[in-house]
Amino acid sequence: MIIRPRRLRGSETLRKMVRETRMDKSSLIYPLFVKEGEGIQEEIPSMVGQNRYSIDKLPYELERLSKAGVGSVMLFGIPDVKDEVASQAYAEDGIVQKALRAAKREFPDLYYITDVCLCEYTSHGHCGMLCGHEVENDSTLELLAKTALSHVEAGADMVAPSDMMDGRVLAIRNMLDDAGHKETPIMSYAVKYASAFYGPFRDAAGSAPAFGDRKSYQMDFHNSREGIKEALLDVEEGADIIMVKPALSYLDMITKVHDVTDVPVAAYSVSGEYAMVKAAAQNGWIDEDRIICEMAASTYRAGAQIYLTYFAKELAKFMDEGRIG
Ligand code: PBG
Repeated sequence: MIIRPRRLRGSETLRKMVRETRMDKSSLIYPLFVKEGEGIQEEIPSMVGQNRYSIDKLPYELERLSKAGVGSVMLFGIPDVKDEVASQAYAEDGIVQKALRAAKREFPDLYYITDVCLCEYTSHGHCGMLCGHEVENDSTLELLAKTALSHVEAGADMVAPSDMMDGRVLAIRNMLDDAGHKETPIMSYAVKYASAFYGPFRDAAGSAPAFGDRKSYQMDFHNSREGIKEALLDVEEGADIIMVKPALSYLDMITKVHDVTDVPVAAYSVSGEYAMVKAAAQNGWIDEDRIICEMAASTYRAGAQIYLTYFAKELAKFMDEGRIG
């Protein structure tokens, strides 16, 4: 035998030398839930270890992230009041807007990205305006753009629309540009599937649709070429980063989007992925730490440059320890 693949697996030093996928803490983004009220740090039942924070408690978590070396967060807001037109999504004193001002004051060095969507703010839980039971595309665009602008004016460094309405990246880009925010990047949740993996998140944010489902706007998980279409469209509309979501069951899409676009690709390991790992680990059925590392490495290996994950702090630690990276 001349070629023996095992030669390069003989020691830890050699295995690390020939590693094809390398990861860095600077590519991690941690999703964070902020809610109205005071003195609140409440655990999300379906996401053991993840919390909802009121604004006064937020700095404690930001401090932990900062210490762990996780430099970027994605903020989600949970308002007190919901209505038909999602008023709190774009209110100047909305929960995300207030949280941004406070967080930027105390931790100006962190990078703040906001999820731009209406579902947490509408009484019906859909991501857009309703006409009867239809989610209307075009009348939603203005509200999404207003929401993005209000986030940026409150201090967001980047906005990330997750609603899956057609044309929203362009609508947001135009409104930001008109207001002088030409340099604020947009990370589009372009390749977002109608997925049962979002179950725990809807618990966390109280954003489950009151009727029907999201299949008229999020993508059918049987489709791959449609995901490419969405990604290319959003790049044309001005998206600076394209996200694939969920991550674990959609690694093929990460690779494809990476191959057909020339923008950075992000992948979001969503709440259901987190909950499955936690539940199995609590039962002693899997080795949680090793699973976290393997899920992350496979996502980067598929082509992601940016990884959104509820395990960001753990991963940062594993990277420091050289267990992964
Ligand atoms: C808002 C939004 C959702 C998630 C991110 N942004 C929920 C949904 O689309 O129903 C899911 C995140 C997760 O499950 O961790 N539209």
